[in-house]
Amino acid sequence: MFTKIKQNISLAAIAAFCIILSGCELTLNKSSMAGSDQLDYAYLAPTPPMGWNSWNFFARDIDEVKIKAASDAMASSGMRDAGYQYLVIDDAWMAAKRDANGALQADPAKFPKGMKELGDYIHSKGLKFGIYEDRAYRTCQSLPGSFGHEQIDMATFAAWGVDYIKMDSCSAEHNGRLSSVDYALYRKYIEETGRPMILSISDFGHAAWVWGGKQSSQLWRTGQDIRHKMSSVYACADNSGGSGRSHPAFNGLWQFAGPGYWNDPDMLQVGNFGIKDETVNKSANRAHFGLWCILAAPLMAGNDMTNMTDSVREILTAPEVIAVNQDKRGVQGHKVFVDGKLEIYNKPLADGTTAVLLLNKGRDQADITVTWDMLGFSGKQPVRDIWECKDIGIFENCFTAKNLGEHGNMMLRIGTKGKPLSMPAPMPLEKYTITRKGVTSLSDLYYAWKDKNAPVYNKTFEGNPIRINGRIYQKGFGCRGKATFMFAGTERGDRLIGKVAMDESYQGENEGRFRIFHEDYFGDRVLWDSGPMTKDTAAKDIVVDLEGYNCIMLVFEGKDIKTEKKAGDVLGVFIDPRIIVND
Ligand code: GLA
Repeated sequence: MFTKIKQNISLAAIAAFCIILSGCELTLNKSSMAGSDQLDYAYLAPTPPMGWNSWNFFARDIDEVKIKAASDAMASSGMRDAGYQYLVIDDAWMAAKRDANGALQADPAKFPKGMKELGDYIHSKGLKFGIYEDRAYRTCQSLPGSFGHEQIDMATFAAWGVDYIKMDSCSAEHNGRLSSVDYALYRKYIEETGRPMILSISDFGHAAWVWGGKQSSQLWRTGQDIRHKMSSVYACADNSGGSGRSHPAFNGLWQFAGPGYWNDPDMLQVGNFGIKDETVNKSANRAHFGLWCILAAPLMAGNDMTNMTDSVREILTAPEVIAVNQDKRGVQGHKVFVDGKLEIYNKPLADGTTAVLLLNKGRDQADITVTWDMLGFSGKQPVRDIWECKDIGIFENCFTAKNLGEHGNMMLRIGTKGKPLSMPAPMPLEKYTITRKGVTSLSDLYYAWKDKNAPVYNKTFEGNPIRINGRIYQKGFGCRGKATFMFAGTERGDRLIGKVAMDESYQGENEGRFRIFHEDYFGDRVLWDSGPMTKDTAAKDIVVDLEGYNCIMLVFEGKDIKTEKKAGDVLGVFIDPRIIVND
């Protein structure tokens, strides 16, 4: 894992370097794709993919007429010309059964002319054709999944002229394969077709940046499904741009993305909120789109393009805001300021200027001030409002956005053209992965992925010293209810040792269980299992042979002994789990 990450960082860096040097549009050399090497695949998405996906608006209710109408609207509304390319047909396009040869086929009632004809239609509009599948035996909508048919499905898609594949993960826990293995298989069969199809990992944000999604795909989800509510939009943004998924010390996942590979906080809900107050609705649409642009997120619109208000169309096609998303430097923006519900993000651009989002996530009106030292500037700098495409003036040391209401925001471009601004240093590998011989305590490393409750480092979940039978332990993790967290790059590790115990302050009757997995839960590779423990169970020793394992996921979960359901109040501690490297 360690070597793989390093190799990929350097490939992405080379790609970024080439893009900056050439300063010109990159085109994919198609003939070089057949049997191509990994670097070519980075060129499939040198900037975040842009398109439209049927799911957020239509869900299952899709058919030939609607998809063709969406293609027409994408071409005629200005969306295509603004850069939206991929028209992606999500779940529920396929027939309930494969054909006699085992190939997928379109639902005959919804798509009577079949997918090839539909793909040709989409292409005739100057667009690219995207399709959905699921890596399990069935999709999220219980239709035929791709498991066991990986090769024939990739060949079928290539024959239909598909350019983009969204590969979902519902039921994939039954595959008996690690996510890294599953997605590598699709990548292999995509390469075999010789058709340059983008592979989008849809796995509810289960750590593709940790287990090596770059090896197989061009984008990976960073969290659960987005809904048409701003609370969901902000949670999705926080998975990619904040500490929703990674340790706060990373300041978001920016360091894992770059030209060729992107963090995907999910498809856009711009146009789907329906907030009654039109001012707030517009602010919400802008806040959502602005966040996705500053986070260099794939821009997959999810509204009804045949019925867009002018306001929604103007937001989705805002040229200077899209230019920030598509900036060829490919840096994902990062937070430079947080004060309660007020946030500032910075995205240094290729031409030496920088894009800044000032955002009020609260309900109360507020002013937000960005100071030049947050951005790496000083003195007098020109400021441009990129929603309005207007220069605002020259400002010394800072700029204040005044009276921002609910979801109120400004997107600015600040500075003059010249040498690109530097980025903050990425988190060094040795801070989140095993890079050295000897013994490394996991609580001396940052987890690179988490779900549910974050573990508390070197304390109980409630912030007390970790104490078992009168002895105090300096290292470990306090956990509550359900906590899962993953460390990268333990391939160098030979053994994992430590202890687990119920937290002494937990006096309830429910059970806690500790498990250690190889990689994410889809692979279901349990390396160690404490079994159910109660407040009366003595501490247990962990001893795991790590030979050949890359990512290690620690899981603590509480269970209500009466209802057999999850119990969120149970407290447990991992006591100094540490990895030993002998050679
Ligand atoms: C999952 C995905 C969604 C969508 C649905 C379709 O929930 O995360 O984006 O594709 O499946 O069933």
